[in-house]
Order: sequence, then structure tokens, then C-alpha cells
Amino acid sequence: MVNDKNQPNNGQSQNGNGEGNNTLTTRQGHPVTDNQNIRTLGNRGPATLENYSFIEKISHFDRERIPERVVHARGAGAHGVFEAYGKVGDEPIAKYTRAKLFQEKGKQTPVFVRFSTVGHGGHSPETLRDPRGFAVKFYTEDGNWDLVGNNLKIFFIRDAMKFPDLIHSQKPDPVTNIQSGERIFDFIANTPEATHMATFLFSPWGIPANYRQMQGSGVNTYKWYNKDGESVLVKYHWEPLQGIKNLTQAEAEAIQGKNFNHATQDLFEAIKEGNYPEWELCVQIMSDDDHPELDFDPLDDTKLWPVDQFPFLPVGKMTLNRNPVDYFNEVEQSAFGTGVLVDGLAFSDDKMLQGRTFSYSDTQRYRVGPNYLQLPINAPKTHVATNQRGGQMSFHTDFAEGQNPHINYEPTFLGGLKEATPAGKDYAPRYEAANLVHQKIDRTNDFKQAGETYRNFEDWERDDLINNLVNTLATADKRIQEKMIEHFTLADEDYGRRVREGLAKTSKSMEDKGPSGATSPKEGVEDAKNNSH
Ligand code: HEM
Repeated sequence: MVNDKNQPNNGQSQNGNGEGNNTLTTRQGHPVTDNQNIRTLGNRGPATLENYSFIEKISHFDRERIPERVVHARGAGAHGVFEAYGKVGDEPIAKYTRAKLFQEKGKQTPVFVRFSTVGHGGHSPETLRDPRGFAVKFYTEDGNWDLVGNNLKIFFIRDAMKFPDLIHSQKPDPVTNIQSGERIFDFIANTPEATHMATFLFSPWGIPANYRQMQGSGVNTYKWYNKDGESVLVKYHWEPLQGIKNLTQAEAEAIQGKNFNHATQDLFEAIKEGNYPEWELCVQIMSDDDHPELDFDPLDDTKLWPVDQFPFLPVGKMTLNRNPVDYFNEVEQSAFGTGVLVDGLAFSDDKMLQGRTFSYSDTQRYRVGPNYLQLPINAPKTHVATNQRGGQMSFHTDFAEGQNPHINYEPTFLGGLKEATPAGKDYAPRYEAANLVHQKIDRTNDFKQAGETYRNFEDWERDDLINNLVNTLATADKRIQEKMIEHFTLADEDYGRRVREGLAKTSKSMEDKGPSGATSPKEGVEDAKNNSH
């Protein structure tokens, strides 16, 4: 890996005596003639402040980290290409969307993908039970499109207001810094719509075997619109052509004992060996209305759209064929957002999606900096011309050819930038007058699909699900256990019964063994109160 052929300079000296391309310099371009010893008064010190090359080296090192992503901190990335089929299922795609990247059969668009786990830090094990992120940046001729998805097709909550609470419950306890099953299920037990996601997450679908053999999904409901400004509702799905592989808890633990980077390694090595992973992009389409005939709301991301009514329609294929050259530059600093759409693609009123759309670029201005879109990994590969100037780390100006450099405003007579001509009829959704309210949607139907998902699992998946739930809930407060059993029973009687029986057995065996000594969050309440000022 050290002499990777992907590296622009593989370390070979041009003339063999260190005076060629491989000469070590400072960032100021000064050759470094001694990289082993700081300058000292005599060879035993003390050191001096005019040690310019040492101070440059150490102070850059001191700043090598940026804040990690508040969620999805652990990730791996790769470059590739998306090839359009030019149709959606058997129909011309132009009937539904005018997005240029989809129109012609065989049209290629470069992509960058970042896969991730969600809850823990930048070097946490990749075997953890967690949704997996699946974020794709398409560098289209109309600018960038980001499809920021997960491996699972649904989510825990349907309203962005709850996201910080959901994540706090899954992150480590703020006192002990240890993740706690009790805190996770305390939130889920109080959030009935999370029953469906918990059913997937605690089954083997909660631990994909690697990144190549997992699905992806946009999860939220988006829209497409055509040249006449007519829209449909759309869900996106990535289907891996390598097949799907998930792990039981025991299999994951066996891998974790030996290698906690297995998914990153698997992806990097497959691509290095030319074994390029591929996914087919499919969509489900619904007419753009409320669909009162359905027993769920099409804008509710805790629900699957039944495939018998809304089949998966292939629209193209993605191949990942190039590893990053520099992890930090390309993967860590990459920035995806649900607001990054191109002409022909739009949001729906899905309340999660609307909350997400604010959050991504907000966090990236903090995490990477206000000029994060100037970085090569994030910059579109097309015409960019703005009147934005300055800000931390601005390093180039988005000039258009022939633009008067003095004119960084619009409108102008003096050779500045001009507004673009619309590509087609404007997509202008119509809203009926309504009161501004804090209210949940009507068709919550929190348990039916959780039951269907439970019944659709294979026996080994159901067995692993029950095992994992019982093991995690075993040390939780009785009220949390009771509420979860109630919710699982509402989903499916057998599901609730098996969790109840499993917990009864576990608590019997725990009684027999005596107190376990496990720390529960509530036991810490008094300590925390006593220590707070
Ligand atoms: C990353 C917020 C729901 C998928 C992030 C980040 C934030 C965030 C702040 C860090 C971004 C960065 O530092 O660059 C939210 C909020 C949500 C939400 C507020 C709900 C209201 C979801 C859902 C999905 C999802 C439903 C799945 C479709 C991802 C992925 C990443 C991410 C894949 C990592 C992107 C990357 O690789 O850089 N999210 N998220 N998020 N989120 Fe969400």
C-alpha cells in the first residue's frame, strides 16, 4: 500500500541523490536539510524559537484533525461512475424527470461515494450494530446532486424535531461515555414509530457484512418533475450486484476480535484488485398526491412502499473503480447534503427531509469551513461562477471567462455575472392555505409494517432478532421492557411473546446469579447531582 500506483508521485527520486521531485520541503517550498534534529544550543539544548521548519511541522501536526461528523463519523469512500439506462423500467424517463444525467442510454456521470456507520467515532469498529450510511455525490453537467442515503430503507422517526434526541440516546452516556442499550430503548419505547426500524436494526440487517454487499436507499421521499413542470413522488434504492450479506451478532463479534476495519479494508482491496463493486439504481414512483387509499402517508419515512404496488424500476448502474489517494482530503472533507439537487429533481414535504436539508450544510460550514465547496472533492466539475468572496481558507475565485474581476455583484452593466435562463417550465408546487401548527401526521400506523417485516424474515433472522433484543433489553428498566413488549405484540403476537418469554428467562437466570453490577443510567443520577456545581 505504501507504493500505491494511485499515488501521483510514488516516491522515486528523479536523479537518485534526493534533489529531484522527492526532496522534502516546507510548505513554503524551502528544502529541509535536517528532519531529525531541532536546532539547539549545543547538542543537549535548549531549543530556540527561530526553529522555523520545526515550528511549521509541529504546528501543522497540532491542527491535523477537524471536528469529526456529529453522526456518521466512521467512513470509507471511493470514486466511480454512474451510467444511465435512459429509461425508467420500460418507459422513457423524460416522462417523469428532465434531469440530464438520466436521459441518454449509456451517459456517464462521475461519482464519489462515502459509506459509514452512524453512532460512534472516527475509528470505531465497523462490526457494530448500526445503520450504514450510503452517500453518493454525482458530478453532473448541471452541477452536483447528492443522494444521501442509508442501507436500511426506513428510519426511526418521521419528524426532524426528534433527531437530536434520537442521536443522543444512541451516542455514549454523557456521564460514563459508554453506549447503553437502556438509553437506546428508553427513547424507542417512547417513540412507537421506531418499532419498525428497531425490528430491522436488531436483526442481522443491522450488521451488513461489508459495504460492497449492502443495499442503499434515499429513505426520504423526493420528487421528480418533467419539462412541463409535472411532478411525481420518488424513492431511490441501490441494489448491490454483488448480492446482499448480513451478519449475526456472533459472526460480527468473531470478526471484531480480529479486525475492526474490515469493511474499509474490504472495499479498498476489492477496488485495488480490479474487483469493482456495482449497484443498480432503482426508483419507486407514486403520483404526487396524499394517497388517501394507502394506510400510511407517502411522506412518512418509517414506512416501506409495498413493492407489489410500487415496483422497483431500474434507471442506471454505478461502478466504484478508484480508491482515494488521500483519505483526509477526499473522504474526511467530503460533504454531502439533501439540499444538493439538480434541475428535474426536487424535495417533497417529508418533514425529515426538510429538517435534514438545513442541517447538512450548516454542520459542514462548521466542520470543514465556509469555503468547503471550493475543495476539489466537493466542487462541481462544471461551470461555477459566483459573487461570493472571502471567508476562511478561500483559495480561488469563481470567475467566469471574460468576467470583469471588479464586479462581484449583480445586476450590473459592467461585465459581471448574469442570471441563467430556466431550463424548462418552473416547477411551482401549489399549497392550500392552512394554519401553521406543531402536529403529527394522521396516518401514523406505527406497528403494521413492523409485523410484516418480522413475518417476512427467515427463521435464522427472526431468531437472531429475538436474541439481540432480549440481550439488549435484559438490563433495562422494567417500564422500558414492558412498553417494548407491548409494541412488539401490537406488531405481531408471536414477536411480543418471544421477547416476553426471552426476558422472563433472562431475568430468572440473572436472579439465580445475583446482582450483575452493571451500571444503569438511573443509578448514576444521584452521583451526577452530587458532583454538579
Ligand atoms: C450525516 C443530520 C437523518 C443519512 C449527517 C450529518 C448531519 C446529519 C449533521 C453530518 C454531516 C457532515 O458532517 O458532513 C441529519 C438530520 C436528520 C438526518 C438532522 C434528520 C432530521 C438522516 C437519514 C439518513 C441520513 C434519514 C438516511 C437516509 C446520513 C448519511 C450521512 C449523514 C449517509 C453521512 C454523509 C457522509 O458520508 O458524509 N446527518 N441526518 N441522515 N446522514 Fe443524516
